[in-house]
Amino acid sequence: MKKTIILAIESSCDDTSAAVISDGILLSNTTASQKVHEEFGGVVPELASRAHQLNIIPVIDAALKRAGVTSDQLSAIAFTRGPGLLGSLLVGTSFAKGLALAHNIPLIEVNHLQAHILAHFIQTPDTSSESPSFPFLCLLVSGGNSQIVLVKDHYTMEIIGQTIDDAAGEAFDKCAKIMGLPYPGGPWIDRLAKEGNPDAFTFAKPNIPGYNYSFSGLKTSFLYFLRDQLKENPNFIEEHKADLCASLQKTIIDILILKLKRAAKDLGISQIAVAGGVSANNGLRNALIDLGKRHHWQVFIPPFAFTTDNAAMVAQAGYYRYLKGEFCPIDAAPYAKTKI
Ligand code: KG4
Repeated sequence: MKKTIILAIESSCDDTSAAVISDGILLSNTTASQKVHEEFGGVVPELASRAHQLNIIPVIDAALKRAGVTSDQLSAIAFTRGPGLLGSLLVGTSFAKGLALAHNIPLIEVNHLQAHILAHFIQTPDTSSESPSFPFLCLLVSGGNSQIVLVKDHYTMEIIGQTIDDAAGEAFDKCAKIMGLPYPGGPWIDRLAKEGNPDAFTFAKPNIPGYNYSFSGLKTSFLYFLRDQLKENPNFIEEHKADLCASLQKTIIDILILKLKRAAKDLGISQIAVAGGVSANNGLRNALIDLGKRHHWQVFIPPFAFTTDNAAMVAQAGYYRYLKGEFCPIDAAPYAKTKI
């Protein structure tokens, strides 16, 4: 029987990524990250779109070659339609449409947030990792989102809590910037935190009702604390960098875990997953493993390669839509904002 081979394209922010999935098995996943933003301390949307334009052909070419597939063998093209930066999304969307038209194959739109969650179902030829069973709770934490999602099946997801201001990744990145660390600051804080004392300093934790999050108060508390300390000792950051990172990371993790734990208890759900760029954080991974052990919950943590933006997760989400015959019109425009 003819195999279902899907090429997936991800270009929602500053990573250009392409992946190939064949009958639900991931054959390749290629990503080009953009260094151009480092000197600006954050993603510059116009530069991101231009870099996507430069990267998209070599990235797709490499994904097809690594999978051992040619474009005329493809059954469909999946692409991230949103949410994300509009200019970045336009590059991936336009390319996907061009390929789909040229080969006369269907186009599949993928919601970027759903894709992060569906990364838990990725299977490669040499691994068959266990996936969460439904319903499960997923803590979705990235540079733009912090949500607790109730996942009912591969297609039905409900946000039960979310940030009312900054995302967890934003808190990492903005506080890292205050300390003079490069962008994106999350991985730097993660690395430095390993050498520091998580109880050295205390920062503000929000008191928000329900399962919602807030991180803007923490960022302000961190900023004011450093401003005061620097008045006394201009070398304060340099002298306490590891302790600052460890204490900040612990505060962010405590905030995230508190609401997740509450939601799991209230809903009686014992399958817990984490997804998104911040799920690469070692402190968060350990805290979740610990939480699972204490409450006898099964915790699912994605492999590092599928935490930050990648097309493998888009391929997985696209495959499920293909199975349902859910295709999208050729005039579908990308969207910057959307819910799950
Ligand atoms: O999911 P993602 O790649 O992009 C979107 O926002 O969609 O997430 C990027 C975020 C950034 O804020 C980055 O600092 C954070 O994930 N991040 C981390 C780590 N690795 C990436 N934050 C903390 N610790 C890490 N190891």
